[in-house]
Parts: sequence; structure tokens; C-alpha cells
Amino acid sequence: MKMNLNLRWPLILALTLSPAAAQVRYPVLYTDMDGTSLGPDGQVRPATRAALARYRACGGQVGVATGRTLEQAKPHLKDLGPTLPLLLFNGGVTYGVDLKIKRIAALPPEALTATQAALKGLTRLGIVAHGAEETWIDAHNEGLDAFLKRARINAKGLIPTEGAPGLIKLMVVSRPEAQAALYAALKPLEATLEVMISSPETVEILPKGVNKATALKAVLSELGFNQEEVIFFGDSGNDTAVMRAIPMGVAMGNCHPDTCKAAALIADRNDTDTLAEIIERLAIDPRCVAGRGGEASALEELAKDPAQVEAGRALYARHCVHCHMARGAVGANLTDDIWVHGGQLPEILNTISEGVPARGMMGWKRRLKEADLRALAIYVYSLSAAKAP
Ligand code: HEC
Repeated sequence: MKMNLNLRWPLILALTLSPAAAQVRYPVLYTDMDGTSLGPDGQVRPATRAALARYRACGGQVGVATGRTLEQAKPHLKDLGPTLPLLLFNGGVTYGVDLKIKRIAALPPEALTATQAALKGLTRLGIVAHGAEETWIDAHNEGLDAFLKRARINAKGLIPTEGAPGLIKLMVVSRPEAQAALYAALKPLEATLEVMISSPETVEILPKGVNKATALKAVLSELGFNQEEVIFFGDSGNDTAVMRAIPMGVAMGNCHPDTCKAAALIADRNDTDTLAEIIERLAIDPRCVAGRGGEASALEELAKDPAQVEAGRALYARHCVHCHMARGAVGANLTDDIWVHGGQLPEILNTISEGVPARGMMGWKRRLKEADLRALAIYVYSLSAAKAP
């Protein structure tokens, strides 16, 4: 694996002090989206999706922390599979996994005029003003339009002259080469507001004391986790505060200099499978081999119950037999001891749940209940067990 490992003590601690029963070394994983868990094409890499699924299966909890709004984050939630509150707007709004607002931190009413005043005379494309559900802009031009399109931001129009109510986040958009001057001009606002670089094109303004780190802290204390239990992935200026707050911050190779400096570990760039590799090597306990973690022994217990085998037999007759035949004689043979996708109970359960879509075996996790999937796995396992030497 090609990885620029800037090892510091938290990593060494994590490698030596993992508690015996844990299936993951870090029970909580939060990741940024753009530049981190999304590749340069704006999509979650398949390896990342798979590693997150395995991490969850081993008992880990996944959260996202991004500058995006809910609308912008939504298309990737299926791939990332969060099980923890979503920290959106760089911490300005926290949503539950049910996508309902849990906590909101609005900007003071004078934030917009103060920002516009600080930027007077400087070259910028415009200001994007986000409320929790609506977005406005303060200028119309080609550069800003192109940015909005790229970022998939649906602006309602120009900010109403009487002001927009309940603003949560301002985004000062510029060409990358203009950013340093804008950031310097906005810095003095830090006495009353939070100012951060969130991408090479955007400086963001949030209420004072609101950032991903404070939002994360609130969620962790609600859920009863401490900061040592978190592994966090990020790349940009809006991730720096988290890197400073927790021992295990991982910065992508494409990190902003401040973020790289604050991280415990620097990974490869976001156009590689580095994130998946670090999840596999660092976040998941190597003892969680089967991919479904603590379920392995629970499944074995269940498999001793003849009622489970019978339930599985009935389901198999209904859903599977037309492809696999009564004794698995045609297509994939399920009655021998040869397994393409693994013959341990958790592996069989995984194959049935996820399927092998490329080879004509669909996944069943959305069609059947978890209990039915388990009964099927137990039945299929019993078929092979009866024949195997
Ligand atoms: C549309 C046909 C079809 C149906 C329906 C189907 N399967 Fe499959 N199944 C396949 C094919 C084809 C493969 C081989 C995939 C491969 O080559 O990787 C397979 C593979 C498998 C494997 C992996 C075998 C191995 O060697 O690792 C298991 C387990 C399995 N199926 C169980 C089931 C169960 C349980 C059901 C019913 C819920 C089911 N299948 C329904 C076509 C089907």
C-alpha cells in the first residue's frame, strides 16, 4: 500500500491498546465528503463504500461531517450509510439519521452586512447565503452561476433587501487565486463569527463557536463516546478544528496545509483507495474477519435451532429454488463444500444479502427481512454441511 504514514503516538496507541472484545478499534467514524470520501468525480469510490459497510458490520458507527446542505449531501448518503447524526453546514445544522433537524445554529442578523463590508473592493464571484432549507445569492454572474451548477446549489434568487431570515452559513465564492486576499479581509470578523476555508473556491462564515468540531463534540457527549473513540477523515480548512480536537484525525493527501499539520496521519489523495485501506487496516479490528462481526457467533447459536432451518427451507423454495434447484444442482451449487463467496455462515449471509449482481445473483436485503435472510443463510449452510466431509 502506498501511503504517506505520518505516524504519531495516537496511532501507535490504537494499535497496541485495542480492547479484547472490540470488533472495531474506533467505534465512531466521521468523514467529510468533498475531497475526502468523494473522489474527484464527486462520487463515493466502490472500495470506500465496501470498507464502510464492513466497518458497520463489525459494529462501527458512521457519520458524515460536511459543509454541504441536506439537499447536496443526500445523493451520497446511501453510499456512505450513516448511522449517526449528520453534521451539515460545517456544523451549523445537525440532522438525525431520519433527516430531521436536531440542532440549528443561526448567524446573527448583522453577519451578512458585516461580511459584505469586509469584502468591499475585493474581487469575488459572490456570496451564497444558506438558510436550513433555502439558499440565496448576492450577485449574478457567469462565474457564480457555474459554481452553483457544479456544487448543485439551487439558489432561490437574490437575497431579499430586507434580509433573509434564519441564515446559517455564508459562502464567499471566488476564483482560487483570489481566495487568500478574501480570507485575510474576513479574518478580523473572527472576533464575532467563525471564518474558515472550506474549498479552494469558498470561504465560509458561521456563527462564532460553530464548526464541525463543536458539532461533533455535542453529538459525542449525547451518545456517550469520548474523543479517543473517534476516527475522523477530512481534507480542508473546515476539518482542521476536528483534527485538533481529537487524537485520530486522518488528512487526505490533498489536504489544506493547516489541515495536514493538524492531522495525526496523512493518507493518500482522494483519487485512490486510501480511505478504504485505512478503514480496513486501522478502524476495523483484524479479528472481525468475516465482515459481519459480532453476528458470527450469534448466527451459529441460531443455526442450532431446527425451526430456523425449516423457516429457511420454506423461503428457499419460494425465492431461490428456480435458480439453484432443489439441491443446488444447476447454476451455483450450494450443496457442495466449494464456495466462491465464502462458506462460513456470516459470509453466506453476506452473499445472500448483497448478492453478486454482476453474475446474476441479486441481493435480497431490500426484499426480505433480516430474520428471513438469517434463516436462509442457516438453511443454505445446512445443505453444504450435510454433504461436506
Ligand atoms: C436469478 C437467479 C438466482 C436467484 C433467484 C438466486 N440466486 Fe443465488 N446465485 C445465482 C447465481 C448465478 C450465483 C453465482 C454467482 C457467482 O458466480 O458469483 C448465485 C450464488 C449464490 C450463492 C453463493 C455460492 C458460492 O459459491 O459462494 C449463494 C449462497 C446463493 N446464491 C444463495 C441464494 C439464495 C439463498 C437465494 C434465494 C433468496 C438465491 N441465491 C437466489 C443465481 C440466483
